[in-house]
Order: sequence, then C-alpha cells, then structure tokens
Amino acid sequence: MNKPIDITGVELFTARLYLREWRESDLKDFYEYASVEGVGEMAGWRHHGSIEESKEILDKFISGKKTFCIDLDGKAVGSVGVEEYDEALFPEYADKPGRRIGYVLSKDYWGQGLMPEAVAAVIQYLFEMEELDFLNCGHYEFNTRSRRVIEKCGFEFVKNAEFKTVSGTSAPTREYILTREKYISMIEESAYYA
Ligand SMILES: CC(C)(COP(=O)(O)OP(=O)(O)OC[C@H]1O[C@@H](n2cnc3c(N)ncnc32)[C@H](O)[C@@H]1OP(=O)(O)O)[C@@H](O)C(=O)NCCC(=O)NCCS
Repeated sequence: MNKPIDITGVELFTARLYLREWRESDLKDFYEYASVEGVGEMAGWRHHGSIEESKEILDKFISGKKTFCIDLDGKAVGSVGVEEYDEALFPEYADKPGRRIGYVLSKDYWGQGLMPEAVAAVIQYLFEMEELDFLNCGHYEFNTRSRRVIEKCGFEFVKNAEFKTVSGTSAPTREYILTREKYISMIEESAYYA
C-alpha cells in the first residue's frame, strides 16, 4: 500500500549533493533543464514550452511535498519524486508500506553518477526514516541510462508493464522492486550506501 509521505523540512546530504524541498526561487533553474527536449520525454512528460508551464509544475512540487530538489552548489539540477506506485500491479505488497521513485537530471550533468547518488540518499531516507518495506522503480524499455541507475541502486527486476508516453500512447516498461531486506544487505556492499 502507498504510505502518505511529507518531506517538509527534510534535508539530505550526499558527497556532492544537497536534497531539499523545492523553492519558488528555483524556477529559472527548473525551466533551464525541463525545457530541453529529450529529458522529460524519457520520464513520460513533454519538455516545457514556457516558463509559465515550469511555474505550474514547480507549484505542484511545492504543494505536493513529495518531490526533492537536487541542489548542486546552489543550483537546482534535477528532482527525485516519491510517487505513488500502482497498487494493482503489485498485489503481493498490499499489506506493506511502499512508494515509487521517479527522477530527472539536467542533461548538462549526465554521466557523473549524480543520480545514483541522489536516489541512494532518498532510498536511505525512505527505509530508515519513513520505515517503508519496499520501493518500486521503473523505466521505459528503451531508457538504458535509467536502467543503469536502477541497477546501481540495487533494485531487482520483477515484471514488465506499460506506462503512458508523452504522445498519449503507452510503451513497455521494466518494473523493479527494492525490499528493505535487500537494502539492509547492500549497506555494506554498495559504493552508494554509506
Ligand atoms: C537517467 C538519468 C537520471 C541518469 O542520471 P546520471 O546521473 O547521468 O546517471 P549515471 O551517471 O549513473 O549514468 C547512467 C548511465 O547513463 C549512460 N550515460 C552516462 N553519461 C551519458 C551521456 N553523457 N550521454 C548518454 N548516456 C550517458 C551510461 O550508460 C551510464 O551507465 P554506466 O555508469 O553503467 O556507464 C539521466 O540520464 C536523466 O535524467 N535522463 C532523463 C530522464 C529520465 O530518464 N528519468 C528516468 C525516468 S525512468
């Protein structure tokens, strides 16, 4: 089952990143990366066509209280959302608290291992502070970059599914689960978990 999440006041620190709530003053940075074609499209949303569109989404991030801003040296360069997972897709977890993680990073910063670092911090927070039992994550079959983030964070492939695309059609996705047990066993092994 989806556990309600509220990240108000939560701050997470990694070797290079500061994860925090979104602020109205992040608008320019947000529009800068969200308006680049080929970024949001990999996560199921169309790149933003105007700063007003970014402002609308930013307001939702702020009021929704479930989306972290990835802050790199004072600049907002991405987001990690603690989304609701599809309960119909995972009936076996009906009596366990869980959520789904989604993320996007500014194209300017791809390939430096920043997202695995950010996602690992959110995973740690969700298991240790929110006491979730499992996390779900997924990617379009064609999104091999996201697949690598998911694998590096220790998620295990469970099943194929479908997810809507920006053009209104649906595309095959690969769905993964990270259990609390697997997380605990990874703490000593993985470079991303302290
Ligand atoms: C997926 C994403 C978050 C990866 O973040 P990241 O910080 O670059 O992750 P990593 O540095 O660990 O790189 C992941 C993989 O991307 C590939 N990659 C790295 N740099 C790249 C670049 N400049 N161009 C293309 N691919 C690159 C590599 O295969 C890498 O895997 P490897 O470490 O095994 O070689 C980022 O590409 C992104 O925001 N994409 C658009 C949104 C998206 O796909 N969101 C997820 C939806 S499910």
